[in-house]
Amino acid sequence: MEIFHDIQKLRQSLDTKRLEGKNIGFVPTMGYLHQGHLSLIKSSAKENDVTVLSIYVNPTQFAPNEDLDNYPRDLENDTKIAEEAGADIIFIPNNKMMYIDNHVTYVNVHELTDNLCGLSRPTHFQGVTTIVTKLFNIVQPKRAYFGQKDAQQAIIIKRMVKDLNIPVDIVVCPIIREHDGLAMSSRNTYLNQQERSEATILNESLQKAKLLIEAGERDSKVIKNTIESMINSKPSANIDYISIVSQETLKDITTIKGSILIAIAVKMGNTRLIDNIQMEV
Ligand code: PAJ
Repeated sequence: MEIFHDIQKLRQSLDTKRLEGKNIGFVPTMGYLHQGHLSLIKSSAKENDVTVLSIYVNPTQFAPNEDLDNYPRDLENDTKIAEEAGADIIFIPNNKMMYIDNHVTYVNVHELTDNLCGLSRPTHFQGVTTIVTKLFNIVQPKRAYFGQKDAQQAIIIKRMVKDLNIPVDIVVCPIIREHDGLAMSSRNTYLNQQERSEATILNESLQKAKLLIEAGERDSKVIKNTIESMINSKPSANIDYISIVSQETLKDITTIKGSILIAIAVKMGNTRLIDNIQMEV
């Protein structure tokens, strides 16, 4: 496995591999890798000749009051487990390299960024789409792998690639969970014991919603109220949003029908967690 910190050197290495006819798979991350990230690396390693992993805590997707400085980092362990999962190249740039002085160009996907996480994190997705575009231009992968865990992010990236004719296939992989159902996240490490044990309520409330819909419930309000009361029964929980939206538009729907996404964001203490479930009704 090779590690690059420099854009030019990475490009040279990948140019050679492309000339040899090799397909490049790409997994962008912010590091502090867990089984969720590793599942993306494994999928890429299976489907491509070369798998590139990027580890970069992107400052432009954090608001000033968010956890940029405290975001967990462990490069030594990351490189070890990434290699075991099948990564061939790790790209670890620094801020100076990714945002040269006087950087003034940003990528904005409209409408899809207005709802859900966009409501409480209004500048977040501009940071994500900008860095992902930059990384796509640097790596020029054939396929790029994203997790369903960040459902809105995956939908936005898919649309951006389509709208801007970026020649990459976006592959979305399932949510990997802890044994008790909590979706894996680098941020789970912030949770204290009580918050961690109460955090299973996110997945439990989504599973309950699924059962209600499977039993015939079609009123979004009823489903949302059920999720709300389950989450509010936990003292550490503070709901940011509970939304039922169309997977295509990410706009709220009142009657459950078609391809839907139930997405929730909940603060457990100071830690904001997200989870979601997709259904075809
Ligand atoms: P990060 O939070 O590190 O996540 C990197 C990728 O791993 C994302 O595609 C995310 O959806 C996926 N992932 C995280 N937890 C997962 C889980 N439990 N199961 C399956 N996949 C999971 O998302 C980002 O970084 C950044 O926004 C990034 C795209 C790298 C741009 O900076």
